[in-house]
Amino acid sequence: MTVHFIGAGPGAPDLITLRGRDLIAACPVCLYAGSLVPEALLSHCPEGAQVVNTARMSLDEIMDVIARADAAGHDIARLHSGDLSVWSAMGEQLRRLRALGIAYDVTPGVPSFAAAAAELGAELTLPGVAQSVILTRTSGRATAMPEGEALENFARTGATLAIHLSVHVLDKVVTDLTPHYGADCPVAVVWRASWPDQRIVRATLATLQTAIGAEMERTALILVGHALGSENFGESRLYAGDYDRRFRPVGTAPRFPEGAE
Ligand SMILES: C[S@@+](CC[C@H](N)C(=O)[O-])C[C@H]1O[C@@H](n2cnc3c(N)ncnc32)[C@H](O)[C@@H]1O
Repeated sequence: MTVHFIGAGPGAPDLITLRGRDLIAACPVCLYAGSLVPEALLSHCPEGAQVVNTARMSLDEIMDVIARADAAGHDIARLHSGDLSVWSAMGEQLRRLRALGIAYDVTPGVPSFAAAAAELGAELTLPGVAQSVILTRTSGRATAMPEGEALENFARTGATLAIHLSVHVLDKVVTDLTPHYGADCPVAVVWRASWPDQRIVRATLATLQTAIGAEMERTALILVGHALGSENFGESRLYAGDYDRRFRPVGTAPRFPEGAE
C-alpha cells in the first residue's frame, strides 16, 4: 500500500500531470484538500472509490483514514493544490507516515506562481533586470514567519517576489516594498489563476490599492518586480548567433567541438 501525494495544480482541471491523473485513476481511495483542489479532478477516480474532502479534518482524522486504507491494503491518492513543495502541509503527513512505516511517493504539480505568470504572459527572470524569484508569504494566524524572512529583507535583493497568502495585508506589503522597489515598480495581483472566475489587476506599488478597490478575497498571488513591466532588458546570450555552446558550436575553434564528450 502506498500514499501517492499528487500536486493537483492551480485550479484548471487539465493542469495536472499525466502521472497525477493516472495515479488518481488507479487508487481506490482519494483524499483531497477541498478548499483549493478542483472537484473536476475527482472524475478521474475509479467507480466506487472512497472520496474524502479533508478541508474540515484535523491531521489526526486524516491519519485515521490513511491507517484504515493501509489496513485494507488500499492505495491512496492524496491531492493538494498547486505543487507540494510549498505550503502544502505535506511535510507533517510524511513525518507521520515514516513513523508508521507506510510507503509514500510524491508527484509534482503546477505551482500557483507559475500559473499566475503564465496568465500574465510574463517571464519573471529577465536578463539584466531580475534573475531570481522569491516565493514567500507574510505571517498568518497559523504560521509566523521565521526571523530573517521579513519582506524587507527579500526586497533588498531586488528579485521578483511571488507573495502568497497575503492579499489581506496588501497595505503592509506595499509599505514594506516601496522603499526598495520604488513607487513605480510594477505589481500584478492574480486571483484564482486558471479558474474560470480568475481576476487580474495590474498596477504599480503606488496605484495598487486604488486599482484593487474593494478588498480582494483570498487565494490570490501578489507578484512584484521590475521584470513584470520591463521592455528594457537584454536578450539571453544562449540564443545569440555568436554564442559558442555545446549544442551549437560556432567559429573555427569551438569550445565544444562536435562529437566531443
Ligand atoms: C496554502 S497555499 C498553497 C500553495 C500551493 N501549494 C502552490 O503550489 O501554489 C495557498 C496560497 O497559494 C496561492 N494560490 C494557490 N492557488 C492559487 C491560484 N489558483 N491563483 C492565485 N493564487 C493561488 C494563494 O496565495 C493562496 O493563498
